[in-house]
Amino acid sequence: MAIQIKTKEEIAGMRKACRLAAELLNYIEPFVVPGVSTEELDRLCATWTEEHGAISAPLGYKQEGTFPFPKSICTSINDVVCHGIPSAEILCEGDIVNLDVTVKLHGFHGDTSRTFLVGKVSEEASLLVSRTKTAMERGIAAVKPGAYIGDIGKAIEAYVEKFGYGIVTDFGGHGIGRVFHEEPFIPHYDTGIRGAMLKPGMIFTVEPMITLGTDDVVIEDDGWTARTIDGSLTAQFEHTVLVTEKGVEILTKTS
Ligand code: MF3
Ligand code: CO
Ligand code: CO
Repeated sequence: MAIQIKTKEEIAGMRKACRLAAELLNYIEPFVVPGVSTEELDRLCATWTEEHGAISAPLGYKQEGTFPFPKSICTSINDVVCHGIPSAEILCEGDIVNLDVTVKLHGFHGDTSRTFLVGKVSEEASLLVSRTKTAMERGIAAVKPGAYIGDIGKAIEAYVEKFGYGIVTDFGGHGIGRVFHEEPFIPHYDTGIRGAMLKPGMIFTVEPMITLGTDDVVIEDDGWTARTIDGSLTAQFEHTVLVTEKGVEILTKTS
C-alpha cells in the first residue's frame, strides 16, 4: 500500500483534530504535580475530550497480539518508554512523565505527547527532557517535499549522538488520518535506508523516545508498558505533521 496523500477536506479535518489534541495537553499540564495519580490525569483527559465532542482513541485500541488498551491516555513515568497504563500510582517530586493523547474528532485522529517535569527534577533529567524535545524538532525540520523518510531519523541521530543517549528503535512515528496507525513507519534513528520520498499531503507523526542508557526495551505482562531494560530514564515528545508544498506544518499546535 502506498502512503496516502490527504485531500483538502481530510487536511481540514486533521487540522481540527490535531489542534484539539494540543489543547488537551495544555489543559492537563497544570494538573501534573506531585501527589496526583495517573488515573486522575486519565479521568480528567477523558472527561475533557468527551466535553469537546471527541473520542479518546487509545481506549479499547487493539493491536495484534495484545489486550485492548484499557485507558484513555498513555502515562509513561521515568523508565517507561511509552504506552504506560494510568493507575493508582502517584507522581512524586523529581519524576518525569510523558502524557500521550490521541483524540478522534469527526473521524480524524490527532496524536501528540509531551514529557512533563513533576516538581523539581535533577539536572540530568531536565536536560534529557529538553534535548528530547529538540530531537523531535530536528526530525520535523528535516520534513519537506523531496526529502526522504530516512532523513528524519538521520537528523535526530546526528543531534542526539553527542550526548551519548540511546534512541529507541522498536517504536517509531506513523502515518495517521482516519486510521490511528497507518503507513509509513518513521524510524527515529539512522537506519541507512533512504525510504520513501516525502510529498505534499502526507500526514504522519514524529515521536522520538530517547534514553539515558540503552535503547533496548521490554514489554511488561500487561501487554503494553514498555520499559528500558537497564531501568534508565527516558523521555518522548510527539507532534503530528503535514508535508506542505513549501515544507512542513505542525498540526498539533495551538498557536
Ligand atoms: N499514542 C501512541 C502513539 O503515539 C499510541 C498509543 S496506542 C495505545 O502512537 F493503545 F496505547 F493507546
Ligand atoms: Co503516535
Ligand atoms: Co501518541
